Amino acid sequence: MSGITESFKVIETGYKERDNDFLKDVREGLAADSKHLSCRFFYDKKGSKLFEAICDLPEYYLTRAEREILVDQAKAIAAQMPENVTLVELGSGSGVKTQVLIEALLLQQMSLLYMPVDISSSALEDSAQVFLDRFSNLEIVGVSAEYQRGLREVRERIKGPKLVLWLGSSVGNFTRLDAAQFLRDVRASMRSDDLLLMGVDLRKDRAVLEPAYDDAQGVTAQFNLNLLERINRELGGHFNLDAFQHKAVYDENEGRVEMYLVSTREQVVAIDDLGLGVSFEEGEMVFTELSYKYSLTEIETLAEDSDFELLHQWFDGKKRFSLNLMGGVCQMKCVNDH
Ligand code: TRP
Repeated sequence: MSGITESFKVIETGYKERDNDFLKDVREGLAADSKHLSCRFFYDKKGSKLFEAICDLPEYYLTRAEREILVDQAKAIAAQMPENVTLVELGSGSGVKTQVLIEALLLQQMSLLYMPVDISSSALEDSAQVFLDRFSNLEIVGVSAEYQRGLREVRERIKGPKLVLWLGSSVGNFTRLDAAQFLRDVRASMRSDDLLLMGVDLRKDRAVLEPAYDDAQGVTAQFNLNLLERINRELGGHFNLDAFQHKAVYDENEGRVEMYLVSTREQVVAIDDLGLGVSFEEGEMVFTELSYKYSLTEIETLAEDSDFELLHQWFDGKKRFSLNLMGGVCQMKCVNDH
């Protein structure tokens, strides 16, 4: 890599998405009574570009709200950190929000080790270049792995205290049960005095939520429809994208936005690599993604259910989004015991 110096390296853990993962998911998902496709496959090259565009949409307040909190509270957050903390991030993101935190940490320690964990080595390289251009006393060790595997890798290598950063309300893309399980696993791969800083989108009016997932310019629709395009590109699919529509509905009881692709007519779509045609009724919905929203009580419960203690919480000015600093329960017990 030109320009990337000895301040950057990537640990490869041998993670490889197998080619037939997508095929298997599509075969199972489109054969089911209620059709579904996995959100895991949103983020190919085109999907990742579209997602970046989503983050800039006027309706998609999440990214701006989270950035606002980080900008306003970076000092306060950094002040909560132990000396010489290592910054670990789940996902390498586009990095603007992370840079705010790196800047604040470098005001209170001489140097910083930043370890983004991402299955995509190229995403790791792209963001590393930008970060290293900006910060001279930053060292980056990317970990190319799935989150759990990556966190174990980090744990083995880093003896000092860590802050694990998980932004973008990605926790919302798990069911509430799976979120608690995932966080318990994260907790288990951290040392007792490590910290987690997690962005969580809050419950709010459907009039705000639905447009955030179904914008006027149709970028989110393109992002969702890219799943079908990907089937066309990679699996010899024959989806006519004009015959499917993106749909986002907020279920207030569940506190989640549900995303679907709706067949606008009765049709049979051939997928060469599956060697079959898939029938769709007019109005039939293919489920693709969930985005859960949390009340403050639900965040408390999530923390408790995953053996974390909620240590600190910050909000944007309009209280649309939250940043949550969580630590080990043991840490609190130890404090309380004295
Ligand atoms: N983590 C993002 C969210 O829940 C993912 C996302 C944003 C998304 N817009 C989307 C997923 C549209 C599917 C479709 O906000």
